Amino acid sequence: MSEDNIESTLHEDRHFPPSADFIRTASTNADKLASLYTQAEQNNTEFWADQARTEIDWQTPFSTTLDSSNAPFFRWFPDGKLNVSYNCLDRQLEHNADKTAIIFEADNGDVEYISYRELHRRVCVFANTLKAQGIEQGDRVIIYMPMIAEAVIAMQACARIGAIHSVVFGGFSSSSLKDRIEDTQAKLVITADGGNRGGRIIELKATTDGALEQGCDSINSVIVLQRTAHDISMQSGRDIWWHDAEQGQSEQCEPTWVDATHPLFILYTSGSTGKPKGIQHSSGGYLLNAITTMRWVFDINDSDVFWCTADVGWITGHTYVAYGPLATGSTIVIFEGVPTYPDAGRFWDMCQRHCVSIFYTAPTAIRALMKAGDEIPNKYDLSQLRLLGTVGEPINPKAWMWYHTVIGKEKCPIVDTWWQTETGAHMVAPMPVTTITKPGSCTRALPGIDASIVNDDGDEITKANQGGYLVIRQPWPSMIQTVWGDDQRYKDTYWPMFDGKYYLAGDSARRDEEGYFWIMGRIDDVLNVSGHRLGTMEIESAIVSHPQVAEAAVVGQPHDIKGEAVFAYVVLKGERPAGGVDDTLTQELRAWVGEQIGAIAKPDDIRYADNLPKTRSGKIMRRLLRTIAKGEEITSDTSTLENESILPQLQGKA
Ligand code: WTA
Repeated sequence: MSEDNIESTLHEDRHFPPSADFIRTASTNADKLASLYTQAEQNNTEFWADQARTEIDWQTPFSTTLDSSNAPFFRWFPDGKLNVSYNCLDRQLEHNADKTAIIFEADNGDVEYISYRELHRRVCVFANTLKAQGIEQGDRVIIYMPMIAEAVIAMQACARIGAIHSVVFGGFSSSSLKDRIEDTQAKLVITADGGNRGGRIIELKATTDGALEQGCDSINSVIVLQRTAHDISMQSGRDIWWHDAEQGQSEQCEPTWVDATHPLFILYTSGSTGKPKGIQHSSGGYLLNAITTMRWVFDINDSDVFWCTADVGWITGHTYVAYGPLATGSTIVIFEGVPTYPDAGRFWDMCQRHCVSIFYTAPTAIRALMKAGDEIPNKYDLSQLRLLGTVGEPINPKAWMWYHTVIGKEKCPIVDTWWQTETGAHMVAPMPVTTITKPGSCTRALPGIDASIVNDDGDEITKANQGGYLVIRQPWPSMIQTVWGDDQRYKDTYWPMFDGKYYLAGDSARRDEEGYFWIMGRIDDVLNVSGHRLGTMEIESAIVSHPQVAEAAVVGQPHDIKGEAVFAYVVLKGERPAGGVDDTLTQELRAWVGEQIGAIAKPDDIRYADNLPKTRSGKIMRRLLRTIAKGEEITSDTSTLENESILPQLQGKA
């Protein structure tokens, strides 16, 4: 966390009740929201059962709400059957078929409107296409696509036939893609000949080819969407164009009814050890919280235009682009490009043109656009906006206030939503109709979510402003089911303390005098770079795999825009470069990490040293490395250091 963050969050007494303007447009009733808490407190399981009966169309209603017999492998609505795509699309056909489901804007500004009827048709045709490619219920399908409507169509088509999708963010490298294909043992990759971002083409097909060259024997075929129409190579017998594969496929596709516990998707995320973990989510429980949070936190109503800027490669793009908004019959915006192209007014221009009423983005984007100056958003008519949201990392009060005044014109509540890939949906977040917000706080746990802060013994910390582990004490419907193929890792990572009673989120947090939650940071070696999770170990092993490198340590460095930047200390097999500077090698190592993981993991800074600082027992002194990366003075005792002379090298002074 940056200085600004820590300082101001410690004494924050600005309060923002919902504005009268917002209340006038609000669709949820304050008394009803308040009664949700009472109901949940009386009987949490029954509360969720009620919500599930109201919000989801079940093909077979459930009779058991929660099976805890094999905890922590909780099973929600185990004997219920449903189809997620049916709940998102077919439900709208009777009364809402002509409503716009997706407003798609391409990088070059072209706009396409897709109604619910049309989206349903396209999903059905593509679902039949998947079947024709041999995809059956339970098979894994990799989606490696640009941020375009077809990415959502592909996800929905998988859901329709009970195939389990795993979306890989388009910025990940061949090697990362290969790891995910191999871990899921997917049969099929859905990709595109390329994507457009900021006027440049992203070579998705070439990267896919690179992954498949490295193994991936489970893959039988690759469906390729023609997006850029630039030259790519197609391997006959394996690769097939999306439009060719769709030829002759029917527009009718009966949904495959699956158990509520059937996995809807696997999404990889970084942890403190080893390779990224495949977070497995259910169908019924996941969908339920995607829907309830759309109502409680986003106050969604029929006339809203909802824009969540996240890519479908991240959990936010799953829950608040592909599933939650469609399951509530909303109109969403999908944008292929980047916020700064053709200029830093793109988001605001799009908000104006598409009459966006709810806008949800990450603090890193807000900070970057704030830096571009107020004149830019001030040129646009943002009067349709009624609610703003943020996610991914703590938002510093300065950025919050800017978002509130310059974008929200002091009338739009800001929902700062705390949640994780593993939680599936918002956990601690304002319900804007009732919650008084404070800049930098994600406020309170939602109804039915038993979030708390505990000490090492698992005892609740009741003292105001004292930090501890953020835990969830009772299961909730959209919780992670397991780590794909690794039940032990699921238990070890999320239930390692407190006799396995509580879900350990991996964040530290405190509550203020009013019981508001303030997220303080990760307790593990996970960095949050521009709202994206990266494991330090993952980056370290990527660096160490370079032939010239002997050892590496990676820490986070506070960064104005990204929140955290990647800072690497490297020990070479050969001599340390003279004066610690070797620009060519530094560029090479950065590119290397880009190839191993993806561009987001490239270190901003690399320092070369003769050794890494270690204690006599051989442990890397990470806290010391973090202090140095921050440019702070070293106050800790360095006498246990094996080799004190490397300090100036690490500090970049020698
Ligand atoms: C952090 C993103 C503070 C946190 C949905 C969490 C946040 C991790 C917030 C999950 C927030 C997310 N305030 N920190 N509003 N939202 N985080 O899995 O450290 O990509 O554990 O899910 O991001 O990141 P993930």
